[in-house]
Amino acid sequence: MMLPDRVRVVEVGPRDGFQNLPPIDTEIKYQIISGLIEAGIKEMEITSFVSPKAIPQMADAKELAVRVVNEFGDRPNLNLMALVPNLKGAQAALEAGITTATYVISASEQHSLKNVRKTTAESLADLKQLLREFPQLKVRLDIATAFGCPFLGSIPEADVLKLASVAAQAGVVEIILCDTIGTGNPVQVHSLAQKAMRIGIPMGLHLHDTRGLGLANTLAGLQAGVAMFETSVAALGGCPFAPGASGNTATEDLLNLLASLGLDTGVSMERYLQAVDQVIKDVLPTAGGHMAKVPRNPCC
Ligand code: COA
Ligand code: ZN
Repeated sequence: MMLPDRVRVVEVGPRDGFQNLPPIDTEIKYQIISGLIEAGIKEMEITSFVSPKAIPQMADAKELAVRVVNEFGDRPNLNLMALVPNLKGAQAALEAGITTATYVISASEQHSLKNVRKTTAESLADLKQLLREFPQLKVRLDIATAFGCPFLGSIPEADVLKLASVAAQAGVVEIILCDTIGTGNPVQVHSLAQKAMRIGIPMGLHLHDTRGLGLANTLAGLQAGVAMFETSVAALGGCPFAPGASGNTATEDLLNLLASLGLDTGVSMERYLQAVDQVIKDVLPTAGGHMAKVPRNPCC
């Protein structure tokens, strides 16, 4: 089996997950983020600097980010990131001490209009401006609805690849192809990922598990050479502007898959599951990936 030598696990639960739930106490968010860091997570979207009118759940972005950065910002090799949808968000992220931001553009016009009230072309123009005005910010790009849109259905591969190459030329540090509503299948993921990898900058996948294909699609991505996956603690996740966008692939299940393939992530499963337990206890009793439900017996 062809597999990458090393895989980056990017935790997005505190952003992708929390944005889709009723507002959560900032203290609880902080404790969960701390638990994820203590478990060994090295890259994490901790919040998003978005309009509180659009996503009230993220209204505490500044307070939370400042606290997390103050506490953990000097840990070696820890990258604390946030989603930003525009220049205002980029400015706010920098002011809170965040130096890597994820910008989002939808491959689908309809989803783009609902999500950020801009067309894909307008979002791309804003991204270029953001890159020019904030050279001190490392900007990653999430391409939303890359494998299907709740309003338009299928999205041509060529549209996604064009968007990815223009963004790469504009200077984003990496691109993540997002299956926002979990309609992708392994053949589709392998095909698009393999072509996108040829663009020549790091390429990641963000694969919602809406139809139970999250890990199958992950394996297809791994076989295409993808070495970065964005997943959510306890399978939280969803987009408030994409009907039917239920949970992301659970990070605990990704960690188990990678371990079973002999790929070390440096994350302690035992400690990671403690963070999962806290999500289930304090945030959403029905949350949790498969690994949250198996017996905690070291022999299994
Ligand atoms: N952070 C905080 N407030 C922001 C903001 C940001 N990044 N961007 C805009 N605002 C505020 C403006 O100051 C303005 O406030 P006011 O009404 O008090 O003056 C208000 O939001 C509207 O600003 P405007 O520029 O007209 O934005 P909009 O209403 O067209 O909304 C977005 C555009 C992008 C700001 C909004 O749709 C958004 O935040 N979307 C989030 C999408 C998202 O995170 N989706 C899930 C992840 S993919
Ligand atoms: Zn998502």
